[in-house]
Amino acid sequence: MPIREITTKPYLDQKPGTAGLRKKVTVFQQPHYLENFLQSIFDCAPEIRGATLVIGGDGRYHNRDAIRTAISMAAANGVRHIVVGQGGLLSTPAASNLIRKRGAAGGLLFTASHNPAGPDGDFGVKFNIAGGGQAGEGLTDRIYQQSKSITRYRNCDDADIDLDRRGEQTLEGTTIEIVDCVDDYAALMQSLFDFDRMRDWIKKGHSLRFDAMHAVTGPYAQRILVEQLGAPAGAILNANPLPDFGGGHPDPNLVYGKHLVDLAFGEGAPELLAASDGDGDRNMILGRGIFISPGDSLAMLAANLPQLPGYRDGLRGIARSMPTSRAADRVAKELKVPLYETPTGWKFFCNLLDAGNVTICGEESFGTSSSHAREKDGLWAVLAWLNVLAISGRSVREIAEAHWQHYGRHYFARHDYDELPATHAEAVMQAFAGSLASLQGQQVSGYEVTTADEFSYQDRVDGSIAVAQGLRVVCGEQARIVMRLSGTGTQGATLRVYLERYEKDPSAQGWNPAEALAPLAAAADQLARISALTGRKAPSLVT
Ligand code: G1P
Ligand code: ZN
Repeated sequence: MPIREITTKPYLDQKPGTAGLRKKVTVFQQPHYLENFLQSIFDCAPEIRGATLVIGGDGRYHNRDAIRTAISMAAANGVRHIVVGQGGLLSTPAASNLIRKRGAAGGLLFTASHNPAGPDGDFGVKFNIAGGGQAGEGLTDRIYQQSKSITRYRNCDDADIDLDRRGEQTLEGTTIEIVDCVDDYAALMQSLFDFDRMRDWIKKGHSLRFDAMHAVTGPYAQRILVEQLGAPAGAILNANPLPDFGGGHPDPNLVYGKHLVDLAFGEGAPELLAASDGDGDRNMILGRGIFISPGDSLAMLAANLPQLPGYRDGLRGIARSMPTSRAADRVAKELKVPLYETPTGWKFFCNLLDAGNVTICGEESFGTSSSHAREKDGLWAVLAWLNVLAISGRSVREIAEAHWQHYGRHYFARHDYDELPATHAEAVMQAFAGSLASLQGQQVSGYEVTTADEFSYQDRVDGSIAVAQGLRVVCGEQARIVMRLSGTGTQGATLRVYLERYEKDPSAQGWNPAEALAPLAAAADQLARISALTGRKAPSLVT
């Protein structure tokens, strides 16, 4: 099995987005496509040579082939030790944890998150650095530049790797260690949460449902919720990971998780309902008769976290992405800890976490996590809620209502316009940008505009600046309209419109979010001429 240098020609479309390089499976199946990108990573991150590398994926179609290629190329590029999840499976947070725990120089994560899978579905690859977080803007751009001029890559001939056999194998002097995908992650969760209290809560007959959506969290939920915490097997829905995610769309939100919403609002609803996405980093939380929006979940967990074993020292700070509702800001204020506002994408939290500035962070896109990892973590959020329920003796609804009573309520929604021609999406952004110039001091939907600008961000730790991170109209604490284009789509452009309105008075909090936000939605449409410029009468998705 000698190591070979193979001649190749660059593809010019390997620019990673918000969460790595994401394309159709058919694009990844082109000759040398994946190899070019992986070699670009090895070339730009020489620290991996002679070091440990973690490799895993969300189990979607093409996962095993890609992982075999990655192992073989890593060996050919002089990686000393490769740690791989058995069967090629590792949830994104579990991979982040393994990188940290093993002191690895990095990790290759094969996932397109919640995007549909299968031969016609999506595939993706992400490079995470030592410390466990996704590579930052600078390194990501260097990898992209390298991919545009690549002429050769290194690979082992006929590498025969058994992904299912736990233990060690060797390839050209490299050790390949196949590990159980759950063990280390479950141990981490035990170090953060009160498993005894949660076990008691379940034993007393309190009920929960977790939907793994035929994606990677099945084995994690089975081990932790069923085997360790004693939940009945029926508490886990769609527990077996499938290469096409059962034909579903493992994106836990009000649309793709509607069956859970129906269950939560139906007769005999369980007390806690939750779901995670394809690669296990997102979460959706519901209780009997209530949906907890992600911005609220971040705020409510932040307020309650110091009661949980792993967080008894209190919070260092809270971070949220700019479009995420400002509910967490009020908790930070009350706890007298800093609140950091970052661009969309988890990588912006990582430097803050590394510097010890932040304990919990979250995004409106159903992502929440803490300083225990450098990725968002779906099951972590579910366990955090479960632990809060178990120690407080309150229901999800009681916790939410008490929170709103105390802090006020932030109504929030995101309207997505999917698969737009790029020209239409850009025209909308331009129209909105054009409106911003004259909005200062004007009224929008009855609120006075205090800021109208484009968000940019300077990293406090490395000084890097991220520009063009979304356009926003801010009406003090009362309301906001934010627009940006998605960086994770694989088909056309996606416009995201984020609406937020604050209601302090508990007696005026009875609205449903759609009603509460309708005037702001109309204002957004008017300011950016969305329907006029796209021909769409309504968003494709409201979450
Ligand atoms: C989306 C979400 C963002 C999240 C990312 C990866 O990115 O909006 O919050 O970090 O997926 O899960 P977008 O498509 O908006 O660029
Ligand atoms: Zn994901």
